[in-house]
Amino acid sequence: ELKDDTIIIVLGASGDLAKKKHIVIAELTELPIPACDVVIAPPSQTFPALFGLFKMGYLPKDVHIIGYARTKMDEVEYHKRLTSNLKNPDNDPEVSAKIEEFKKLSTYIAGSYEDTGAFKELNKHLEEVENKYTAKSRNRLFYLALPPSVFIPVAKHLRVNCYASGVNRIIIEKPFGKDSASSRELLGSLKEHWTEDETFRIDHYLGKEMVKNMLVLRFANVAFSSGWDKNSISNVQITFKEPFGTEGRGGYFDEFGIIRDVLQNHLLQVLSILTMERPVSFSAEDIRDEKVKVLRAIPPIEHGDTLLGQYVAANGKPGYLDDETVPYNSVCPTFAATTLWINNPRWEGVPFILKAGKALNEAKVEIRIQYKDVTQGIFKDISRNELVIRIQPTESIYLKLNTKTPGLSTRAVPIEMDLTYKRRFSDSKIPEAYESLILDALKGDHSNFVRDDELDVAWKIFTPILHWIEGKNGPAPKPLQYPYGSRGPKELDPFIHKYGYRRSDNL
Ligand code: BG6
Repeated sequence: ELKDDTIIIVLGASGDLAKKKHIVIAELTELPIPACDVVIAPPSQTFPALFGLFKMGYLPKDVHIIGYARTKMDEVEYHKRLTSNLKNPDNDPEVSAKIEEFKKLSTYIAGSYEDTGAFKELNKHLEEVENKYTAKSRNRLFYLALPPSVFIPVAKHLRVNCYASGVNRIIIEKPFGKDSASSRELLGSLKEHWTEDETFRIDHYLGKEMVKNMLVLRFANVAFSSGWDKNSISNVQITFKEPFGTEGRGGYFDEFGIIRDVLQNHLLQVLSILTMERPVSFSAEDIRDEKVKVLRAIPPIEHGDTLLGQYVAANGKPGYLDDETVPYNSVCPTFAATTLWINNPRWEGVPFILKAGKALNEAKVEIRIQYKDVTQGIFKDISRNELVIRIQPTESIYLKLNTKTPGLSTRAVPIEMDLTYKRRFSDSKIPEAYESLILDALKGDHSNFVRDDELDVAWKIFTPILHWIEGKNGPAPKPLQYPYGSRGPKELDPFIHKYGYRRSDNL
């Protein structure tokens, strides 16, 4: 349930949600440049998401939003930054009025991330706000939009100095470590201060509409649930493509690489929901129990099941190594395709290819489930069925089927049954992932957040391959080159075909 008297505290609040997110955060937090762009993405989403919820009337009735960061600034400056990224392209007066209201419930306080006194001050400020607006009970949601270097001290200070008498919750974002050992260490340190029940680990892919739809699609449709296994399905691809490179953010990216940035978290989360057994109920624990169970059936990725790439200059765009913030000889992958296997009766032998890349030819995230061939006999050259779930852009689901060409011919042609959300649900607004997740955290619903043991199994699957890529056990492999703006390394097609994927002509 949503408690009316909750306040939200955004730590690392910049409010200025500029394109070059990392620079802004570094500047505002006055920290050494944070470790990577992955931590940086969230703050740019936080305030627009909070505003989106506010505009739709989903925030608690007496909500107040308090920003906290190191930079000293007055309220005018803070509000300027806060609103700079709130969209109102048509200057709609209603939205403008909402923005003004939103400003009124947003205050800012500057302070250090290490100093007890500063957190005591923050607490005083929170109590003042609570006494004025929400004094019935004191519930606080802390959102850590901070680089990992200060996660722990801040989490500790909040627990010691800013813990309220009501419900306290903390939202944190990846990176949760760099491998099994570092993730466990981070998890352990956080657990000294915050319980699992109070902790909400965001993987924003779990807030995306099409990912959330998967439970319904799978378990509310016999048509799908009955053939959802190795008997019917030949191979599955989960693909993430971005059309831009690291552009000036390479220094941060280089520490992590595409596997940590996208595969180990976002794509693996999608995979687990796609493949888990039906949960006993829709409760957060039942869902996450099933996710953990299927992830535990996945052995660590083999070198031979991996293809790595790095983009080079092309189409007037710079290569990864041209980025001055990247070491000249970096072998950090900006593209990776890895094949995972699930050793359980449902999925044994079915390859799940996760692939992700920066600086590719398009922006697209999708799941492509390719069914097996029909048994030979009456048909020749029949395309395989495919179920495609387009996560973004243009959310849609389409099923490739064969049908007889209308008319006197008996020839079969592949067609698509197409559910494009914009057309079918033209009146519905699809919420942003962060809107959906912040609302869940306010309600205390953990279903779409990553549990500690889930994170641990996820790292187990990826840690050996990451150590191999980083040359921890021998020479580091050299990634294959691909031109900026291409589909990826040319070796990708043979790689996918090796796992049984057959390209069809029309899609
Ligand atoms: C972030 C990654 O987690 O996800 C970024 O760190 C990536 O590198 C982003 O661009 C993609 O998110 P979305 O919602 O735009 O697909």
